[in-house]
Amino acid sequence: MIDARDGWFFVSTRHTSYIMKVGEAGHLEHVHYGGYIPSDAEGLGCIQGPDDIRIGDGTYYDEEHQHTLLARKLLEYSAPGKGDTRESAVIAEYRNGLITLDPLFRSFRIYEGKDYPVLPAVSGEGASTLEITLRDAVLPIDIILRYSAYEEEDVIVRSAEIRNGMDEPLLLRSFASAMLDLPDAGWDIMTFDGTWGRERKENRRRLVPGVSYVDSKLGASSNEHNPLVILLRPETDDRHGEAIAVNMVYSGNHMEKAEVSPYGLCRLIASINPYGFCWKLDKGCSFRSPEAVISYSASGLDGLSYALHRFAERRIERSRAVYSDRPIAINSWEAAYFDIGEEKLLELAARAADVGIELFVLDDGWFGRRTDDTRGLGDWTADTSKLPEGLSGFVRRIHALGMKAGIWVEPEMISIDSALYEKHPEWLVSIPGRKPAVARHQYFLDLTRDDVVSYVLDSMADVFSSGVDYVKWDMNRNMSDYFTSCPEAGHQGEFFHRYMQGLYTLLEKLTSAFPDILFESCSSGGNRFDLGALAFSPQGWTSDDTDALERMEIQHGTLRGYPLSSLSNHVTASPNHQNLRRTSLEDRFGTACFGILGYELDLTKLSEEELAAIRDQVSFYKEHRRTLQHGRFSHLPPSDGAVFWMACSDDEMIILEHQMRNGVNTGRHRRLVIPSADPSAVYSIERREKHVFREDLGDKWDEWASVQHQGFSAVVSGSILSSAGIALPSIFTGKAIEPTTRILLDNASDLYVVRRIR
Ligand code: DGJ
Repeated sequence: MIDARDGWFFVSTRHTSYIMKVGEAGHLEHVHYGGYIPSDAEGLGCIQGPDDIRIGDGTYYDEEHQHTLLARKLLEYSAPGKGDTRESAVIAEYRNGLITLDPLFRSFRIYEGKDYPVLPAVSGEGASTLEITLRDAVLPIDIILRYSAYEEEDVIVRSAEIRNGMDEPLLLRSFASAMLDLPDAGWDIMTFDGTWGRERKENRRRLVPGVSYVDSKLGASSNEHNPLVILLRPETDDRHGEAIAVNMVYSGNHMEKAEVSPYGLCRLIASINPYGFCWKLDKGCSFRSPEAVISYSASGLDGLSYALHRFAERRIERSRAVYSDRPIAINSWEAAYFDIGEEKLLELAARAADVGIELFVLDDGWFGRRTDDTRGLGDWTADTSKLPEGLSGFVRRIHALGMKAGIWVEPEMISIDSALYEKHPEWLVSIPGRKPAVARHQYFLDLTRDDVVSYVLDSMADVFSSGVDYVKWDMNRNMSDYFTSCPEAGHQGEFFHRYMQGLYTLLEKLTSAFPDILFESCSSGGNRFDLGALAFSPQGWTSDDTDALERMEIQHGTLRGYPLSSLSNHVTASPNHQNLRRTSLEDRFGTACFGILGYELDLTKLSEEELAAIRDQVSFYKEHRRTLQHGRFSHLPPSDGAVFWMACSDDEMIILEHQMRNGVNTGRHRRLVIPSADPSAVYSIERREKHVFREDLGDKWDEWASVQHQGFSAVVSGSILSSAGIALPSIFTGKAIEPTTRILLDNASDLYVVRRIR
């Protein structure tokens, strides 16, 4: 809901309000972002109070405005040169290096929906938009700020556009999608950081005076710093307290800054990374920023995640598959790597079909000269020595097994050892006269050029026409040797963003032309796991690190901003291929089932017991798939060294109990508490029974096997579950095993199904 009165603007959602007003000198000032305040509330002027202080060395706006000290104000979109010396939302150069701008309120309009033709645009359904135009005090330079309120989801989408009405070019060096000034600096900042194999690990620290920032210069949203950033009160936890999230709907270089000013104000800015960025705007031209999503929650981090998850599924992801039951995959990569041939693959597929797996994904190695990772990228025709009847023939044989067929592609890349390079060496991104840096023996194709985009479009359309039901779109290196040979580029600083525009055009065209294909995005694991990627691919490969213990942290961090349905998780071999950790097959499943389940190991080498365990896992997952893929995710209170995750749908709650290590003689029961349980209801709780393997128990095998093991189930009032919680059965700890004792190893999990029965 949007309202505007007497120079005040109200952008409200069901539980939140964003309030602005035009200040005495014409600047658009920020008043409030937080809990809901109706636009007719009495005493709005009391929120920020008057500017009734003069400071010795303050830089005032001008002689007539001796109270307008911009550095002490909360502003909506700040530019340099008029007294606000905090970080600027915009830096644009004109007349040989001038950067002073003074954007003042000019006009506004309110409309239903959202009119912002920038890829990948958030859907306008369910939105109403406030558009405010600011114009520089002297020059014909307009900045248009857009605020789209999604009432139901408690999310506001922001963006900015700059138009150059001057007769001379403007060089845009830095341009924020959103700037948010907050009246106090009592916040922590939470970021999601890492690198390959340990993406999006949660980090939390106090904001201190100065600027804290995260960014990506990798050419992708990156595994180093995800564009999701959260400000939260020091006392905020999963269930309580205030938190504000900002996230860019963008897969390229980004920067998020939080500044604590000398006056104790906090400024949050989310933008394309100014690093290497310079966009030349000729007379009459405009530049549109990517969109940014903001959300406020007064009910802790889980409340915030809920809003972000629902928003991503409802308004960002456009695939038909968003709410579908996503298939359980078997992926050939860690099962066979490059050692593939049709017979071997079909044997793996048959074994997978037999245990109930639904989708066979043929990963890297099936095309061109691709016998290893030194060659072949760019040549997207099947290697008939591996797939004798081509890709379509292989797809037919997979379909004949009753499975869906999926294929891996890495369309943005070129190998020097490829037919494509022999024909088009000029398509490889490199700076004339320099030897380009290399990663995994591969290079970027210059997607800033229309002819390259057309080639990739056509070659991918051929691949996707083979009858495949699923595509894994990979991208396995970071950018270097930044250079565009696009004739329209006005400046080399346009390279990164033009690349993203080329990529989004490709994805837009291909996903529209093949609406029934399920796309999964991937980038050396999770190097491009962001809202821009999700717009086209409703699921993403979370990380190449599939070790269950590492994945608990990676999935936890990812779930702060991205829905369960977007996390693709595979059960892989033990010892794990990334860190050699041994984890029981059932415990690998426990972590992987929170999201989109798959398998990525050589099933043809597993024992009958292991296959039986997988068969049971698959059937459990199918029974609870709606909840595990599309349920509401939250954290339950940790207990006695274990964390508890919950996925909750209308019908049931699925709970994961995960312990990092098993203690000895811990002497007490771990507790399961479900704070959201309805005190007036009664619930049944049932533990999923797991297979126990001889190697898990070693010398204790015979002793354990001889005990008449009991499952665990209970019927409990919601008043107990939501407050005292229940005691979970004891865990084996070195002496006798009772029928009720359960076996939980290191990095181990149990799953519970909780249903309301009355
Ligand atoms: C990186 C991905 O993250 C892996 O899953 C796999 O697809 C390889 N690329 C194949 O080259």
